[in-house]
Amino acid sequence: MKVAVMGTGHVGLVSCVTFASIGHEVVGTDVDVAKIELLERGIPPFFEPGLEEAMKREKASGRLSFTTVAAEALRDAEVVFICVGTPARANGDANLLAMEQSAGQIARHAPDGAVVVEKSTVPAGTADRVQTTLQREGGERRFHVASNPEFLREGAAMRDSLEPDRIVIGIESPRSLEVLKRLYAPLLEAGVHLIVTDIRTAELAKHASNAFLSLKISFANALARVCERAGADVTAVADVMGSDPRIGRAFLNAGIGYGGYCFPKDVAALRRLSERLGYPFPLLREVERLNDEAVEAAATKVEEALWNMEGKRIALLGLAFKPGTDDVRFSPALTLARRLLASGAHVVACDPHAASNAKDELPELELARDAYEAASGAHAIVIATDWEEFRNLDLARLRGIMTYPMVVDGRNLLDSVEMAEAGFWYYPTGRPPVVPAPTTSGPASAEAVEPAVPIGQRSTTP
Ligand code: UGA
Repeated sequence: MKVAVMGTGHVGLVSCVTFASIGHEVVGTDVDVAKIELLERGIPPFFEPGLEEAMKREKASGRLSFTTVAAEALRDAEVVFICVGTPARANGDANLLAMEQSAGQIARHAPDGAVVVEKSTVPAGTADRVQTTLQREGGERRFHVASNPEFLREGAAMRDSLEPDRIVIGIESPRSLEVLKRLYAPLLEAGVHLIVTDIRTAELAKHASNAFLSLKISFANALARVCERAGADVTAVADVMGSDPRIGRAFLNAGIGYGGYCFPKDVAALRRLSERLGYPFPLLREVERLNDEAVEAAATKVEEALWNMEGKRIALLGLAFKPGTDDVRFSPALTLARRLLASGAHVVACDPHAASNAKDELPELELARDAYEAASGAHAIVIATDWEEFRNLDLARLRGIMTYPMVVDGRNLLDSVEMAEAGFWYYPTGRPPVVPAPTTSGPASAEAVEPAVPIGQRSTTP
């Protein structure tokens, strides 16, 4: 099938490659000329495991190409996917300008009868607007609008796209269903679960999924606050909860909160949609508040551990909003960096892939090549992103180069027993801290630290 994809961001580009790899002829188009130039040279504009190789392979096969000229991409398309950004406006509403502009382009350039599919995450009711724009601008031509929300995660996008948990198709005409079933035939034949709904349900299901996952994370973070006060272990609590299949263990990891381009904007967009429809959905406001609180809790922990922040060097490990990506958009790690800088600390950060993107967003951030360079002379390490690289650090080496052997673990990445054995003051999230037995004057240097007290034995901060 001839497929046009409008928007070559994470969802658009991965969709281009996936559709090409299941045998379709795909043209991706974007208003960002620099991005298309990179894609034409076979370079993805962001880091995503496996994407570059797959993209090169599909380009070489002749099934995948890119253009800045939307008319070219749309000319013969049987199906058009709209994958443009739907960022949050200042009040939380989804900004749908790019959706409208895409619909206008499709109306002017796509052939009569084309199926126009929303893949961008949009508020319920957006398809009606798309349909109206197509009608107004399309002259005599008629289009079939459908919704096909995308559930891929950054960092696992290729696998999620080729082996999705489900394919959701929202339709209002049999023609849309027939075309989309034909498009996804290789995945459906491989056994992927298909769910067919009306368009508004499909649109809402995507917002509901992202909002519910955010809710799980915020629930875990609120539990972390309770566990810290009760002397319990939030990870073990989540394990117990998660062993009940009605609850599930995924997305119950307490930390410094969720970030990225999707969850923050989608929680806000669902809240705004509900408000506009006359139902305020206050739970979503609370999800957002708890997410802000999670970063603040980590910052407070650092301040309590270090006392005054001026003159203190903090090694911030991780800048990406999650591991496996170079994406720093709405990254809680960057929020934490800003918060620590504002408190007067000297922050030196590192990240395996996101350092240069972070520097663009926060130029005052000092970067180190790796965790050891960041930790050299540091009064505390703060773990902000759960990269595997940070799980296997050489603790003895770190202890030797730090001013204070202190770690605030915002992602519960490290093991309390190992941290105790290595002589660290260790402050995980929602788990009992590991604090050496009191000395007369606290940890003036690494040498001053005494053997750690057993895990679970509560103790005061230094
Ligand atoms: C999310 C959804 O998981 C995808 O299904 C969806 O398609 C995508 O948004 C989208 O709408 O495009 P993504 O933003 O790539 O995917 O990231 P996630 O893996 O969901 O993680 C989001 C955030 O939650 C990260 O900051 C992560 O660190 C945090 N998180 C996740 C936690 O703090 N705790 C957890 O237990 C899980």
